[in-house]
Amino acid sequence: MRQNMSVLIHRDRIANRVRELAMEIGSAYNGQAVVVIGILGGAFVFMADLVRQADFVSQVDFLWLESYEGQKSTGKIKVRQEANVDMQGKDILILDDILDTGLTLGFTREYVLNQGAKSVRAAVLLKKDRENVDPALAENVGFTIPDKFVIGYGLDYNGKYRHLPDICVMEPEKENL
Ligand code: IMP
Ligand code: MG
Repeated sequence: MRQNMSVLIHRDRIANRVRELAMEIGSAYNGQAVVVIGILGGAFVFMADLVRQADFVSQVDFLWLESYEGQKSTGKIKVRQEANVDMQGKDILILDDILDTGLTLGFTREYVLNQGAKSVRAAVLLKKDRENVDPALAENVGFTIPDKFVIGYGLDYNGKYRHLPDICVMEPEKENL
């Protein structure tokens, strides 16, 4: 591990919580099967682990969005790849790695409803503990974490470190060094 990283959530705790989340979401849907949309790139590891423990999945698809540069949100969302699945009249579960400012989930919930979805729900593995973010954006949250930049388990820094099995805190970027 590099010197500027430290483990925040170990892989064993992640695995336990993902198992619980699959059950919590399943009981919210009460045996009904839904379309799961993962937000790429960050959700791919969480999604792979969650859907394999879930009893509520009918189809799986992806929406690829970009909003970050380095450790900061640009405040704008770019759609890199649209989802293909027909959402008309369907119940949609959105999965993402982390809820930070809420821009991504706000955008995606609206996107899904604009495609004609009957209902929308969102689950995130992580939520940053910060003010002025609408808690209704994610119905299911794995862990609430301090407002720090994290990597691993799908989360990246400029495209790197997504493959790390633990969630790690990365030291803030040093400006103009
Ligand atoms: P939001 O739109 O600000 O809520 O941020 C959500 C998106 O930003 C997530 O899908 C992540 O891809 C990315 N993101 C937010 N915080 C972090 C972080 O600490 N590390 C890596 N990516 C992050
Ligand atoms: Mg993301």
